[in-house]
Amino acid sequence: MKTEKKRVGILASGRGSNLQALVEAQKRGELGGEVVVVFSNVEGAAALDRARRAGIPTVFRDHRGRRRDEFDAEVVQILNAHGVCLVCLAGYMRLLSPGFIRAFDGRILNVHPALLPAFPGLHAQRQALEHGAKVSGATVHLVDSGLDSGPIVLQEAVKVLPDDTEDTLSARILEAEHRIYPRAVRALLEGRCRVEGRRVVVEGE
Ligand code: GRF
Repeated sequence: MKTEKKRVGILASGRGSNLQALVEAQKRGELGGEVVVVFSNVEGAAALDRARRAGIPTVFRDHRGRRRDEFDAEVVQILNAHGVCLVCLAGYMRLLSPGFIRAFDGRILNVHPALLPAFPGLHAQRQALEHGAKVSGATVHLVDSGLDSGPIVLQEAVKVLPDDTEDTLSARILEAEHRIYPRAVRALLEGRCRVEGRRVVVEGE
């Protein structure tokens, strides 16, 4: 019997290195699903080029001048039209509206370049350096209506070195992001994540 692949949609606004990590994990048979669409709100995003090179359908819509709820409703429609069951934010530089979160409740993941709840928001690596943190890292979490506030699925710590700059720290954190994001997606798609309030129990991790 043929088992249906779990269908993943990726939302990205920029470089797309996490998207690439997810696609490569899929090629190795380690994603637990298939990336079926990549959506971007930035026409020239490198993420879209990477997706096209991998033969994945892409959709671009400009958010400028549109109401957030109305724009998000269209994005939800696009994801539904592709039969998406899990949404992965990969450098998607927009807050999701409550309607979007309701539509994919518990089925939206994000990757963040710090050990949440430390340093949410923009420039997390710079925040860690400026704070004098000795350890930072990467977090994959479920998305709720707050800013980087949803239940944590996986984290990996990265040491902050005395001579680190924002660039060197970001580069090492990015490697950690690329390791944990595919593992988190796979765990969720294989039904190995159990959410208990704020806590996500991940079997086999
Ligand atoms: C990553 O650092 C991610 O943690 C943050 O945005 C950046 C996206 O990078 N949310 P990329 O586009 O995946 O290369």
